[in-house]
Parts: sequence; structure tokens; C-alpha cells
Amino acid sequence: MNSTTIDHPLHDFIRGLPKAELHLHIEGSLEPELMFALAQRNSLKLPYASVAELRAAYDFADLQSFLDLYYAGAAVLQTEQDFYDLTIAYVQRALADKVRHAELFFDPQTHTARGIPIETVFAGLARALREARVEKNFSSRLILCFLRHLSEEDAFATLDAALSLRENYKDLWTGVGLDSGEVGNPPEKFARVFAKARELGFHVVAHAGEEGPPAYIHAALDVLKVERIDHGVRCEEDPALMQRLAQSQTPLTVCPLSNLKLCVVRDLREHNLARLLRAGLRVTINSDDPAYFGGYINANFIATADALQLSRDELVQLAANSFSASFASAEQKQHWLVELQAYQAS
Ligand code: ADE
Ligand code: ZN
Repeated sequence: MNSTTIDHPLHDFIRGLPKAELHLHIEGSLEPELMFALAQRNSLKLPYASVAELRAAYDFADLQSFLDLYYAGAAVLQTEQDFYDLTIAYVQRALADKVRHAELFFDPQTHTARGIPIETVFAGLARALREARVEKNFSSRLILCFLRHLSEEDAFATLDAALSLRENYKDLWTGVGLDSGEVGNPPEKFARVFAKARELGFHVVAHAGEEGPPAYIHAALDVLKVERIDHGVRCEEDPALMQRLAQSQTPLTVCPLSNLKLCVVRDLREHNLARLLRAGLRVTINSDDPAYFGGYINANFIATADALQLSRDELVQLAANSFSASFASAEQKQHWLVELQAYQAS
């Protein structure tokens, strides 16, 4: 059944719900159609005959099998215009899903390793986000992620290169994060570069407890001193950690369709999002890499609501969490929370 064509009040409620997206890799929003168009524009040949063939390859066994395709796909991004086109396409999808504010991850090392200047990456992303702010009142931030399969030295070099641009992008670039292959690359590996980022006044977040054990969540909190945990679903294996997260109200940016596609869970009905929420953790719903995982933020909300029988109040709680857990100003958050209350009451 196609849920978009059938009258479904809860789905309509979700579609209209104002929300923020806090876990979105902009390179993971590269749709196959755009990948082909950019490959053609940049005279590159993809190892797939068609969009359909490419989409059929999106059948992942785990995080690494996805990352292999994700990094290969990102190679079509070469010019400032490419990064702009990528970002504006995401913004359009987000606006359609009633996203008021998005905090976008980007992976400079994926591009600089191919000889693309970091200036090109920043310029394309920022042009799209600033245009969206002015024309559509779309609020956003950028979170620069270090690739954890690379060395801390490489992360330092990336941070140093980006710092020369900080002044130009201070309206957008306000955080650093940690992503890529988790297992074998614990948070401790990046202790010094995160300490430097904190000293410089950046917000800090890290992927932890997606495939990695609860110990990685502890280390992200204790060593990296992160303000949010990206994913974090494996916290449930450690009751003391669950309690800690509930008590501290450290947000978890959970990505249900990603967890399904990367076999973190076998079936969405087994996902622990509702249990975490009902245990009092500050959970949010996000799309991670929507072009690869079969849906943007509303698709994640709808699939999760259906699988876990989330109530309207819980959906409003998730949306409220997305605003309160964001790095927007207190005034902005308040404005969106008032809008959310009005929507709930309407
Ligand atoms: N990079 C893009 N998506 C990711 C994910 N889900 N986990 C780790 N690194 C990523
Ligand atoms: Zn992610």
C-alpha cells in the first residue's frame, strides 16, 4: 500500500508537524538521479548503467558496506555548483517535510582527499543554506565531521584548514562531529582534536553506539565531552548508561530507517526508539543518509510511528526534542516550540 495516496490521519499529522533535523549527512542526501547528472556534467563514468541499477546496489549488510558506496558516490561532487545543487535539493525535501531547522554534517576529508579544496565545499554548502535562510526562512547549521577511520593527525590538519575559513562561515559552521566506520575507531582516538575544538568554542557531537558498544558512548561523553550522541541505540545494553542518559538528558539523534538498512535492527518493530523514549531519554528522529536508506525525515517518522505505535503525544515529544536538542538560540527554540504547541492544539 502506498501511504501517500491513502487517507491516514496520523501520517497527515506527522507531515504537518514542525520539526528539526539533527543527524543528516549532506553527502548522504545525494540522490541517484543527481549523482548521474553530476557525473555527466563532470565527465565521469559511474560503474552503473542506470539509476535503477545504482539503486539496486543499495542493499547493505552493515555500516562498512554502505560507506564503501557512499564514499564512491561522493566522488561526483567536484565544483562549488555541485555542492550547492546537492544542498539545495536537500533543503527542498526538508522544507516539504516541515523541517524548520537542520544541522548538516559534512565530511571535508572525503573531498580534500580527492583534491577538492575545502573552500569549494564550504562555499557551495553555504550559498545554498544562506539562500534558503533568506528566501524560505530555513534555519541551518553545519557540523564538520572527522572521518574516524583516518588518523587524529589528519583530523587536526582538516580542522586547521577549516579554521582559516571560520570567520567567513561563522553564521553556519558551529560544530564538529565524528563519523565513518565505528568499530575499531573508538572516541579516545580523537581526544586531543575534540579538546581543541571545544577550546575554540565549537559544539561537539559524535556517532557512538550505532555498531560500536556502549563503552564508545561512555567514551564519547567522558573523553570527547560531546553534547549529543549520534545514534546511541546500543545504550540499551548497559542499564547504568541508560540511566545516565535519562538523567543528563543528553540527546540521541536516532535514525530508524538507517538502522534498518544497515542491519542494526532486523525489523523496525524491534527498534528500541519507543523504549528509549518511554524510559525518559531525549530521543530524536532523523534520516542520516536519506538517499541511501529509503526516506527523508517524514518517512522515518511515519515508518517508526507505524512499527512502534507511537502516539500523537509521543510524536510531538519527538518534535519538541528535536528543537530543544538543537544548537539554535534559546529564542529560536522557544519560537518553534510555540509553533509546535499551536499545531498540536489545532
Ligand atoms: N557517515 C554517513 N553515514 C554514517 C553513519 N550512519 N554512521 C557513520 N558514519 C556515517
Ligand atoms: Zn550518521
